[in-house]
Amino acid sequence: MQRFLISETAKHIGEKVKVAGWVTVRRAHGKLVFIDLRDRSGVLQCVFVPSVNKEAHEKAQEIRTEWVVELIGQVIKRPEKMVNKEIETGSVEMSVEEVQVISKAQTPPFDVTTSGMEVNEEVRMKYRYLDLRRPRLQHNLIMRHKAAKFVRDFLTAEGFIEIETPMLTKSTPEGSRDFVVPSRLQPGKFYALPQSPQQYKQLFMVAGLERYFQIARALRDEDVRGDRQFEHTQIDMEMSFVQREDVMELNERMIIAVVQNLFPEKKIQEIPFPRLSYKEAMEKYNSDKPDIRTDKNDPNLLAFCWVIDFPFFEKTDEGGWTFTHNPFSAAKPEFAKDLIEKKNIGNILTTQYDLALNGVEVGGGSVRNHTPEALEKVFEIMGYKTEEIKKQFSHMLDAFSFGAPPHGGIAYGFDRLLATLLNETSIREVIAFPKTGDGRDLMMDAPSEIYPAQLKELHIKVENPKLKKKA
Ligand code: AMO
Repeated sequence: MQRFLISETAKHIGEKVKVAGWVTVRRAHGKLVFIDLRDRSGVLQCVFVPSVNKEAHEKAQEIRTEWVVELIGQVIKRPEKMVNKEIETGSVEMSVEEVQVISKAQTPPFDVTTSGMEVNEEVRMKYRYLDLRRPRLQHNLIMRHKAAKFVRDFLTAEGFIEIETPMLTKSTPEGSRDFVVPSRLQPGKFYALPQSPQQYKQLFMVAGLERYFQIARALRDEDVRGDRQFEHTQIDMEMSFVQREDVMELNERMIIAVVQNLFPEKKIQEIPFPRLSYKEAMEKYNSDKPDIRTDKNDPNLLAFCWVIDFPFFEKTDEGGWTFTHNPFSAAKPEFAKDLIEKKNIGNILTTQYDLALNGVEVGGGSVRNHTPEALEKVFEIMGYKTEEIKKQFSHMLDAFSFGAPPHGGIAYGFDRLLATLLNETSIREVIAFPKTGDGRDLMMDAPSEIYPAQLKELHIKVENPKLKKKA
């Protein structure tokens, strides 16, 4: 007999069907036993009546929460006053004739039917596969999938192609600490995991691919917080022959389409998205990702705004200069000459644009320097010696010397965007297997020590007294 999804049962009143899933609750009312059965599509009330099937009724008494069972029975209409309007299958129930226990379950460490907010986070993470049984988290992952698919389809229709970029790459200056991977074949050398696909995507533009996107993992060894993880996902894109306006226009259209198609209950406060200069944002909101909502109590209000005209450079503690966002950005056209002449450095504004949503920086990008001279100047301003520039960035400078189109792009923090759209306070609620605040995966027990033989093969000595003793 073919298995039916629970959500389909209401269309089969009077028929005998098979359903399978997890037992959410079991209760007894006099002689009757009730089970709420859950699968990925919904919840169904199942009734065991001794006169319908004595054996099934007896078996039902044994069944406990979270067991996996398969039930065969007749779908019947509930009497009018027993209808549960809260659930899709609330007008029907199943009168069970056959039960098969597929798999028993230990008592779960927490209730999987609640929001989970009342459960200690460490316990939730240790048993994340149970935590993910919660309808709230399942909904979040389904919406994540739908948003990724929507963006893929949208960008594909706009002529973009999705291209993967390497995970084992070279350390680059994106402003965070790198995660590094030792090389077995090149003793003493290390790969870095990408902080973003920034350089590769610009090289796609040199290659003439013109419109690239990727739903890409980016890795940064920075302190984990509510809106930060070691690994986050970016909706990353780059376009050739564009100016700032073109990138912002396409992206504004894409974000509005995502909201209107997938989150129709949400109201966008202002279209077109308002634009604030960095200076205005700081003066008025004291934030470079201002929350401009007119009503902060409305959970369905989305206040997007672009922040533009950021200073390109800021002073370091040592008195030198560093970039504020991205070393590959171009200066605004009116400051291009100052950049080349390395004049009025503190006043140079960049083409950077950030998208803020309800006080969260959900994305950012810029138009890039596509001439080797301009890129070289950026690194010179930051105090890099010619030798160092050659060593670190010769691939970019070389590439730009072979005919580079003007180009620009953006990357969204996909997790942050989703968390905000789903009214979640932490991006952990929209990531299947996130790390804890101290960067651990409690379920897999990572990071973990590795065997001395592995260390030896990688030519690594670990200065950790605990490890030394073991080895
Ligand atoms: P940026 O560093 O601003 O730009 O990153 C883009 C967006 O990614 C999100 N984000 C994060 N989300 C979760 N955890 C983190 N640790 C984290 N770090 C960043 C933010 C941010 O706006 N290559 C450039 C993009 C470009 O210029 O095209 C880049 O990575 O929402």
